[in-house]
Amino acid sequence: MAARIFSIANQKGGTGKTTLSMNLAAGLAQQGRALLIDADPQGSASLWSGLSSDSKPFPVSVISVGGHLKREVERFAKDYDFIVIDCPPTLETGVMQAAMDISEAALIPVLPSPVDLWASLRIVEVLEQARIRNRALKPYIVVNQLEPRSALSKAMQQALEEFDIPALENGLRRRAVYRNSAMEGLSVYCIGKRGQTAVEEIEGIIQEVL
Ligand SMILES: Nc1ncnc2c1ncn2[C@@H]1O[C@H](COP(=O)(O)OP(=O)(O)O)[C@@H](O)[C@H]1O
Ligand SMILES: [Mg+2]
Repeated sequence: MAARIFSIANQKGGTGKTTLSMNLAAGLAQQGRALLIDADPQGSASLWSGLSSDSKPFPVSVISVGGHLKREVERFAKDYDFIVIDCPPTLETGVMQAAMDISEAALIPVLPSPVDLWASLRIVEVLEQARIRNRALKPYIVVNQLEPRSALSKAMQQALEEFDIPALENGLRRRAVYRNSAMEGLSVYCIGKRGQTAVEEIEGIIQEVL
């Protein structure tokens, strides 16, 4: 059977693409065979998994892919149930667009301020173009770095409503465990109790997307 493919994309850097990709892939790995494609030349996902120890490896294989994304992903699709693609933070190379062509969903992490959201505006156009080529593509905003214990600001709620991409109900709160687990080469699933609330967030996203 062919893998279900999810792209994590935003041309803006630092919005949480790699954090979401790694933890999403780790969560999906509990439901089937999962692969992470690192399509960002900066190689953050590969570096992250490389930080894990042999005794506690990252639970998902991370494969770095430069050009020919489609061909490479097709090669792996029959051997996996889920493939997550961590896209590069640029629209110029066409890699992000290629990822969208072969994905059932594109998750767009954004930071929780209207200013940051509008900085991601160009992706709306890219997604519209992608949906002409791939009618099955479902785009979703994922709000990241939500303030602990506080709700989304009114301004952000309004900005999200005006955006043409629906937002998932579940987002990621700003939590040290997301940063710390990365430094240990792990996902929030592998760090015991301190990862519990973060795991619940990722599980919520997985449920919505699947
Ligand atoms: N929900 C979060 N809580 C705390 N830190 C986060 C969260 N999401 C991302 N970060 C941190 O923010 C930085 C940028 O995230 P990253 O996933 O690398 O973004 P991108 O891949 O879009 O450039 C990293 O240092 C990461 O650890
Ligand atoms: Mg990244």
